Amino acid sequence: MGRAFVYVILGGGVAAGYAALEFARRGGYSRGELCIISEEAAAPYERPALSKGYLLPEGASRLPGFHTCVGANDELLTTKWYEEQGIELVLGTKVISADVRRKTLLTGTGETISYKTLIIATGARALKLQEFGIQGSDASNICYLRNVDDADKLVNAMKSCPGGNAVVIGGGYIGMECAAALVTNKIRVTMVFPEKHCMGRLFTPKIAEYYENYYTSKGVTFVKGTVLTSFEKDTTGKVTAVILKDGRHLPADMVVIGIGIRANTSLFEGQLVMSMENGGIKVNGQLQTSDSSVYAVGDVAAFPIKLFDGDIRRLEHVDSARRTARHAVASILEASKARDIDYLPFFYSRVFTLSWQFYGDNVGEVVHFGDFTSSSPRFGAYWVNKGRIAGAFLEGGSRDEYEAISVTVRRKAKVVNMAELGKQGLAFAIQE
Ligand code: FDA
Ligand code: NAD
Repeated sequence: MGRAFVYVILGGGVAAGYAALEFARRGGYSRGELCIISEEAAAPYERPALSKGYLLPEGASRLPGFHTCVGANDELLTTKWYEEQGIELVLGTKVISADVRRKTLLTGTGETISYKTLIIATGARALKLQEFGIQGSDASNICYLRNVDDADKLVNAMKSCPGGNAVVIGGGYIGMECAAALVTNKIRVTMVFPEKHCMGRLFTPKIAEYYENYYTSKGVTFVKGTVLTSFEKDTTGKVTAVILKDGRHLPADMVVIGIGIRANTSLFEGQLVMSMENGGIKVNGQLQTSDSSVYAVGDVAAFPIKLFDGDIRRLEHVDSARRTARHAVASILEASKARDIDYLPFFYSRVFTLSWQFYGDNVGEVVHFGDFTSSSPRFGAYWVNKGRIAGAFLEGGSRDEYEAISVTVRRKAKVVNMAELGKQGLAFAIQE
């Protein structure tokens, strides 16, 4: 059995939703020519909500309230919207193999789906503890967080232990955002990670110190420089304690794990050129892979960043998923006018009442600025590389201030005097 489409979007996450929006806005396809195939049961949604609004103790976000493309479109892209737009949703369907030469995908239900043009939007999967040789992370009170099913498991685990203890493994985005959500749900949190400070991939020690102190003031305990080695469980198989490499036993009513992700590339390994150093599918500035009929977007794609002199990066953030998806569709539908994407990397997070944004690349020498002492802070940092601004971070900024730092990074503003830059702080970006 089989079906044939002109355009197939493989994956039903953030990038798929924005690709669909771009197709709908531009037209250029007829009913029955475009489909999204997704392992998930729900139409594409805004994944960032899962570690924020979804975990709130009161008034939590639930589908259909956060389908894509809230904020970018007048209406949410619900299943009704896809129906109206003539875009077929093939949900709850995993693609188990792909044949790029024949332009076919084989689903877990045994169906062969063919395409003329394929957009790979398979995103990434959460790394599992088993991959580090630690067994038992399938217990009912151990939670990962990548999709709605994971988020439901996390909510149930929180509800089952009011006032209890949670151990959060990993000091990255998931660890920080989930720890904040757990505290808001009145659960005591201990965070465990191997680095010297949280958010090691982005934060400087000084920035990290601010957030760690803030979290500590909310009751979070940090255990740094070590990893977990095993779990203690009760007779029902539930985890009761986490055992660390340094010998400590941490009592646990639930455990949240955020130890990074791997891009979902496996269907295409050996068929498309990969970016080994970035762990993704290598694409050009139009998001086209080494096969001209196949594009890759979002977390799975490693694409050239013009601003970084064409350096190839695989970004794991929602803005890049949205923009690469839209750019790929524009490139497909207007091949003759297609231009290379000119993307400014943008990351953000919101925890408790704090909120930060980062633009660019965290390379070079760092200059901090602003007030790091207030509980309603406004501080930041510039990264200066070869005499020019390469990256900028700001906590507690206004819309205009975030815009100003983004423009400064985009312009690679020249820095003459580092000490002066620190003194000027935000004013440097605003005056630019
Ligand atoms: P995404 O993971 O969204 O979608 C991939 C889709 O492909 C899924 O539907 C999956 O089921 C499907 N799929 C994979 N393999 C398949 C197969 N073989 N067959 C069928 N379907 C398949 N970023 C940010 O900038 N700010 C933020 O605040 C957050 N917050 C945040 C919270 C949480 C909990 C997570 C997990 C992630 C974030 N992110 C974020 C990151 C952001 O959500 C991420 O970069 C985008 O979701 C990436 O979009 P993609 O569409 O590429 O992958
Ligand atoms: P991450 O890469 O942000 O952090 C991984 C963390 O895992 C590291 O900081 C490290 O502390 C820890 N770690 C690694 N190996 C470990 C080990 N053996 N034991 C204990 N800790 C270990 O990844 P994440 O936090 O899992 O987030 C997953 C994905 O979700 C990322 O792509 C991230 O960008 C995305 N996300 C983004 C946001 C946001 O942008 N605001 C929010 C949530 C999730």
